[in-house]
This record gives sequence, structure tokens and C-alpha cells, in this order.
Amino acid sequence: MADWSVCSPEKLMSEAGKYRQMAYVPYSEFSVGAALLFSDGSVIGGCNVENASYGLSICAERAAMLNAVVTGRLRPIAAAVYAGDVPICSPCGACRQFLAEFNHDMEIVMMKSGELFIASLSELLPHKFSL
Ligand code: THU
Repeated sequence: MADWSVCSPEKLMSEAGKYRQMAYVPYSEFSVGAALLFSDGSVIGGCNVENASYGLSICAERAAMLNAVVTGRLRPIAAAVYAGDVPICSPCGACRQFLAEFNHDMEIVMMKSGELFIASLSELLPHKFSL
């Protein structure tokens, strides 16, 4: 269970919303923001960045994790994902595996029908691939 005393799920979701404003989405026009929380209370985020060669597009969650790694933060305790007014936006399968590399037990904060919804990454991706 994440230590929510350092940053509430609501605050983390609001940070994800700020990163969402930076999304580069000329093709899908579907903006996503993600914010990762670390045990010291720091938050690092990212947005989706698309490409004319569609398959090269990067999701917000992976962009956030890349941003974290370059600051030396390798073990997020939670992640929030925000995609605006949609029924639910949960991390895609690739992002689940990518995040699980760093902490399979992190909590994932999502919006479901306008309400916060929290699940652990290990619930969303049981039996992650490992070497
Ligand atoms: N996308 C994310 O950034 N995160 C998700 O969890 C799901 C999908 C992006 C990828 C693409 O830029 C756009 O949303 C539409 O699929």
C-alpha cells in the first residue's frame, strides 16, 4: 500500500492533469497525463507524445517513467493517469509491463466515471514478464 501521507491520490491526479496539458497529440487528439509519486513526496510526470509513424507514439505513463529515471528516481510508489472526461483511462498493457519493471506493487490512480479509482499494478498486471 502506498504511503499517501506524502501526497494524496487527489493531488497526484491533479498533477497528472497539469502534465496532460503538454500532450503532443496531433493524430489522436487524445491527451493523457501521468504523474508518478516517490516515497520522499516528489512527483515526476509525463504526457503522451505521438508520431506520424503511429507505432512510435509514447504513452504518458512511459514518458513519466523516463523522466523519473533521468532524475535518478527508480521506484515510484504510485502513479496517476488522467485523460479528461472519459469513462476510464487505465494504463495500456505495454505501460503496465514497463512500470512493473520499477515497482510491481505501486498503486495506480485512475478516474472512473468521474470518481477516483485505485488498483495496484500487480492487480492490473498479474504475472508480469521477468527475466
Ligand atoms: N495513451 C496514453 O498515453 N496512455 C494510456 O494509458 C492509453 C493511451 C495514449 C497513446 C496515444 O497517444 C493516445 O493515448 C490514443 O491511444
